[in-house]
Amino acid sequence: MAPDTVQPPPGSALPEQAMAPQPWRIHSVRRDVASNEVFSWELRPEPGVEPGPLPAPGQFNMLYLFGVGEVPISVSATTAEGGVVHTTRAVGSVTRAMQGLEPGAVVGLRGPFGSQWPLEQAKGRDLVLVAGGIGLAPLRPVIHAALERRSDFGRVVVCYGARSPGDMLFRDELDAWDRRDDLDLRITVDRGTAAWRGDVGVVTQLVERGGFDRRNTLAMTCGPEVMMRFTAATLERRGLKPEDIFVSMERNMRCAVGFCGHCQIGPHFVCRDGPVFPYPVMEPAFRIREL
Ligand SMILES: Cc1cc2nc3c(=O)[nH]c(=O)nc-3n(C[C@H](O)[C@H](O)[C@H](O)COP(=O)(O)OP(=O)(O)OC[C@H]3O[C@@H](n4cnc5c(N)ncnc54)[C@H](O)[C@@H]3O)c2cc1C
Ligand code: FES
Repeated sequence: MAPDTVQPPPGSALPEQAMAPQPWRIHSVRRDVASNEVFSWELRPEPGVEPGPLPAPGQFNMLYLFGVGEVPISVSATTAEGGVVHTTRAVGSVTRAMQGLEPGAVVGLRGPFGSQWPLEQAKGRDLVLVAGGIGLAPLRPVIHAALERRSDFGRVVVCYGARSPGDMLFRDELDAWDRRDDLDLRITVDRGTAAWRGDVGVVTQLVERGGFDRRNTLAMTCGPEVMMRFTAATLERRGLKPEDIFVSMERNMRCAVGFCGHCQIGPHFVCRDGPVFPYPVMEPAFRIREL
């Protein structure tokens, strides 16, 4: 039977250490898309800060802008120098204020929090990753880990849907992944350009192409809820068991440690029990329009 939730790794921030943001400095800023609305920060701890445990793929930190507010943002990479990378789309008050910050600025960070993508469970199996838009950021550490331990997995298929070629994240990495013959990268865009020679259309059409063993595949998907719902349905049609499909949920958060109930979906707290859940646990929530 599928477990109800994916357990947080043992290294997750403990509640008693988790409420006070620690100062971390923006070491570098990278603007990822042509419109500038997506940016990646590498954050490094200020002297005297005891960094928490290394975030596992799928976990998130709470980033606090002094005088503005706090938002949950997934870890999109870790660096050899002890930095964490966060890739953010500016959508509202806090994330737009974040967009204006430059290297040298100090923000508050607490975490890491949440469950992780089930990479251990994927060992010895084909791995299918399906990302929509900014959803590539939380899946990027899985791709890094899978490539570091490439022999642990069978085929690795990455399906990525972006709004347009100019909205594609991590362009140089996508190019590098595309050149590898041990990773099957498939990209589609909603709207092409005159120069675009690739696929146009929804990301599920990339999943429809198969190329993985339906009896021995584990899938992970992250993006808008409607995209994850259709992706899961497509994977099921291709023969995957629902319990072999994992989704990452986004909900407004306050405490991030299971106290306030802000992130609750039915009996589940996204901050504590998620954000990564087995699909059957979240499937009922996907069917409720207003969630
Ligand atoms: C576990 C977790 C991980 C996350 N990881 C990332 C990440 O890696 N990168 C990232 O960019 N975001 C991520 N988010 C989403 C991010 O936390 C929100 O976009 C952010 O909280 C919005 O805060 P705000 O104050 O800027 O916007 P608000 O002022 O709260 O919202 C302004 C407007 O934007 C809309 N809005 C809010 N969130 C979103 C959204 N996600 N997409 C589109 N519209 C939205 C609201 O409905 C509202 O209309 C994650 C969320 C969770 C729960
Ligand atoms: S954010 Fe408070 S319970 Fe999840």
